[in-house]
Amino acid sequence: MPLFHTYKVANAQKMLFKALLLFLLFRFCESRDTITWNQEQLKDGGGVLVSKQSKFELGFFSPGNSSYRYVGIWYSQTEVSNKTVVWVANRNNPINDTSGVLTINRYGELVLYAYNMESTPIWSTYVSRSVQNVNTTTLSAQLLDTGNLVVFQDNNNEISIWQSFDHPTDTLIRGMKVGVNWKSGQEWVLTSWKSQDDPGTGDYTLRLYPNQIASPQFFMYKGSSKYWRSDTGPIDFVTNQEETYYLMNGTNTITRATVTDSAVERLTWDDGGLQWEEDFSAPKSRCDWYGQCGANSKCSPDNVNVFWCDCLPGYVPKSISDWNHKNGTGGCVSNRLGLLKCGDGDGFVKVARVKYPDTSIGALLKSGMSAKECEQECLRNCSCTAYLSTEYEGLVDCLTWYDDLMDILVYTEVGQDLYVRVNATVLAANARRSEGFLERRGMLAIPILSAVLALVLIIMLACWWGKKNRNTKGIDFVEADELVENQTNPELQFFDLDTIIAATDHFSRVNELGHGGFGSVYKGQLPNEEKVAVKRLSQTSGQGIKEFKNEVAVIARLQHRNLVKLLGCCIKGEERILVLEYMPNKSLNSFLFDSTRRSFLDWEKRFEIINGIARGILYLHQDSRLRIIHRDLKTSNILLDTKMNPKISDFGMARIFHGDQLQDKTSRIVGTYGYMSPEYAIFGRFSTKSDIFSFGIIMLEIVSGRKNNGYDLEDPSMNLIGRVWELWGEGRALDIVDSTLKSYKPNEVMRCIQVALLCVQEDSKDRPAISAIVFMLSGELSPPLPKHPAFVYRRDFSADVDPLLPNGSDSVNDLTITTMEVR
Ligand SMILES: *[C@@H]1O[C@H](CO)[C@@H](O)[C@H](O)[C@H]1NC(C)=O
Ligand SMILES: *[C@@H]1O[C@H](CO)[C@@H](O)[C@H](O)[C@H]1NC(C)=O
Ligand SMILES: *[C@@H]1O[C@H](CO)[C@@H](O)[C@H](O)[C@H]1NC(C)=O
Ligand SMILES: *[C@@H]1O[C@H](CO)[C@@H](O)[C@H](O)[C@H]1NC(C)=O
Ligand SMILES: *[C@@H]1O[C@H](CO)[C@@H](O)[C@H](O)[C@H]1NC(C)=O
Ligand SMILES: *[C@@H]1O[C@H](CO)[C@@H](O)[C@H](O)[C@H]1NC(C)=O
Ligand SMILES: *[C@@H]1O[C@H](CO)[C@@H](O)[C@H](O)[C@H]1NC(C)=O
Ligand SMILES: *[C@@H]1O[C@H](CO)[C@@H](O)[C@H](O)[C@H]1NC(C)=O
Repeated sequence: MPLFHTYKVANAQKMLFKALLLFLLFRFCESRDTITWNQEQLKDGGGVLVSKQSKFELGFFSPGNSSYRYVGIWYSQTEVSNKTVVWVANRNNPINDTSGVLTINRYGELVLYAYNMESTPIWSTYVSRSVQNVNTTTLSAQLLDTGNLVVFQDNNNEISIWQSFDHPTDTLIRGMKVGVNWKSGQEWVLTSWKSQDDPGTGDYTLRLYPNQIASPQFFMYKGSSKYWRSDTGPIDFVTNQEETYYLMNGTNTITRATVTDSAVERLTWDDGGLQWEEDFSAPKSRCDWYGQCGANSKCSPDNVNVFWCDCLPGYVPKSISDWNHKNGTGGCVSNRLGLLKCGDGDGFVKVARVKYPDTSIGALLKSGMSAKECEQECLRNCSCTAYLSTEYEGLVDCLTWYDDLMDILVYTEVGQDLYVRVNATVLAANARRSEGFLERRGMLAIPILSAVLALVLIIMLACWWGKKNRNTKGIDFVEADELVENQTNPELQFFDLDTIIAATDHFSRVNELGHGGFGSVYKGQLPNEEKVAVKRLSQTSGQGIKEFKNEVAVIARLQHRNLVKLLGCCIKGEERILVLEYMPNKSLNSFLFDSTRRSFLDWEKRFEIINGIARGILYLHQDSRLRIIHRDLKTSNILLDTKMNPKISDFGMARIFHGDQLQDKTSRIVGTYGYMSPEYAIFGRFSTKSDIFSFGIIMLEIVSGRKNNGYDLEDPSMNLIGRVWELWGEGRALDIVDSTLKSYKPNEVMRCIQVALLCVQEDSKDRPAISAIVFMLSGELSPPLPKHPAFVYRRDFSADVDPLLPNGSDSVNDLTITTMEVR
């Protein structure tokens, strides 16, 4: 209770302070936001333009230690206390004294004069003179609250003829784009400052390579050479007939992206710490620099002690001596006799988990081609050097390359498999090598066994050491390995594979309960007649092993009536199997979204389920010995027992936090569209507050009986959050309640909707902790008013929708996104 009290007081004080400041500004500085023709100019020393709600200011300034004067736009003091310039007008033409004046001429062009320099303008904008008929009495340049300086030609400020957002300097803020307009040829590019004292055009640029055949890539250039290349991520771009661009959008926090002379950074203003906090920065690790290893080679950032560059199969270093001196920039060449002659025996060697080659060099994309067809497509053409088959939201794409393969980075967990073309000799040698490897593995069984024992010892030591040094990243996996490999946990039963096979009748189709991202779940009966659920990890998913160990380690330690109980596991050869408590009623979604089964869930039951899930999360987040972030909460992961008590399941993606760790970051985003919080989906940042977001969605789905990403007949552009937020604003929130609920307690339902809206607020800091939620649901604490939620719109492939909203389409509602690169 006191928590919220102080929260309100602090907020009220802050607002009062802002109001007072605004008042003072209006009172004494006569702040204004426009320049008009022939009347209002802006003189150096004559104040600044302040946008309506005091978000941004425009005026004359001197950067760093410089004494030169520039016209620029910066966040106002009330927003960002450390003066941060986001745009500079005369970046390459400074004024050497304070005689500058910014005016607007009769064509609607902004012009900067310095009176001691006669009448030649220092700087001006250019407006096509075909716009002849501007009415000068209605011309104005206005600084908007978005930070955009716009020249309007009409009284109502509707028709703009120029805007600063179209001429970025080194910084991208919300509403600005990086990309190309195909029609006008206009390109939006960021360019670094020369130095902290000189905003002049520097050497580094960030531009989008608008590859119309493959997904666009960001490039950072140093001069005219490539310096860094982004990973391709489909959520970040908007492409239509006219334009291809990346748009900063989607958060209400103060966020900017800036190109400096060493990196591109995305930063968010931390109102508490009064500093910019880094969300993203690149290049960072050795292999991020473009061409660190030259053509036809791959770079492995983790090879710390050995050389990080390695030729692709079938290629050899261009210069052996460079290679021996750990200089990989020369790259590798093929000694096949001319790329254009290819023999019958050509084939492909897989290079697993890579950041795929630069698609701006001789690449082609064809959609709707299976992996096999893609292989044939590449094999058919002698100049095809490699192919890659990708699948995204059910669409299969085939990428083929017809030139040198550049900028390949090898990941350990993420990435895609690239297939490199080789001739028959290399193909055969490669096959022999992998066979040989297997044989050697057999011969070396004993030495390997002792090595494993030594490793276990080292891991145990590491754990002991790790406990002394908490917060070490990845320690949960080490602990998981220890737990599984030593088989020491007394509570955990280890089953024979034969027992499991008998229990599930050879994993028969009849017994299959469901099919998840990492394998299948079967119903089984143990010799003592106990019914169990058997989760069998698919053997092909190499990455699943890690999740498996993780899941075992996590659930083995958890005991709570709202969590699914782990009875044991089975590890034999390639088999990884979990034996879990059997839930006869399957999952919550099988009731909620089924036209007949949903009637079993009356309001009383639904309210109990909501409270049960909340208690389960409370245990995970606060009450258990560990702090556990589930990361994939959704209705299909809530199972129901015979009495319809909810039990949280599927801990394959859970993370353990140690001590007072509050937040972590991952480059590997796992979760489900529609349930992921914005900071997780976009930046890979997860915390207890990302679970809270998912819980908010679950509550809304329980109350309404609709899927968050389901189709809304009244407004197809909107998802469930959007619909509820709209109804809430109109005071009609109860309209969202599932029509099959014959009777319900309106105050309980309202409370759930309000709490759910608090959970899905855009800013993670605003979302309540699970303990507060439990109190609010019980009515012991009255919930505050929710702010604007995140992700109000559905993902739409046709129009100009917010590219940062990763909502799924109907067909992928329950698909788990296993890998989505955010770098
Ligand atoms: C500005 O000058 C001071 C003193 O000469 C120096 O310490 C500081 O590094 C300079 N700052 C910049 C950004 O050049
Ligand atoms: C203000 O920002 C600059 C650049 O972002 C940084 O170097 C400086 O330390 C900051 N100053 C304060 C007082 O935080
Ligand atoms: C500023 O520049 C002008 C034009 O180059 C020059 O005439 C003037 O002397 C300079 N003033 C100072 C104070 O350097
Ligand atoms: C310009 O706009 C003003 C105000 O709307 C109007 O009174 C005036 O007649 C216009 N002048 C011309 C030449 O259209
Ligand atoms: C295949 O390529 C290797 C080297 O990449 C070369 O040594 C060999 O002669 C080639 N074999 C044929 C049949 O072209
Ligand atoms: C690496 O080799 C290239 C030529 O292949 C050369 O131009 C470059 O200077 C070398 N770099 C270093 C650090 O020796
Ligand atoms: C192979 O592909 C390249 C690039 O698409 C193309 O220019 C060339 O004509 C193709 N060659 C054949 C024989 O199809
Ligand atoms: C960007 O976000 C704003 C509000 O957050 C929204 O009104 C606008 O439509 C979005 N722009 C795009 C292109 O989606």
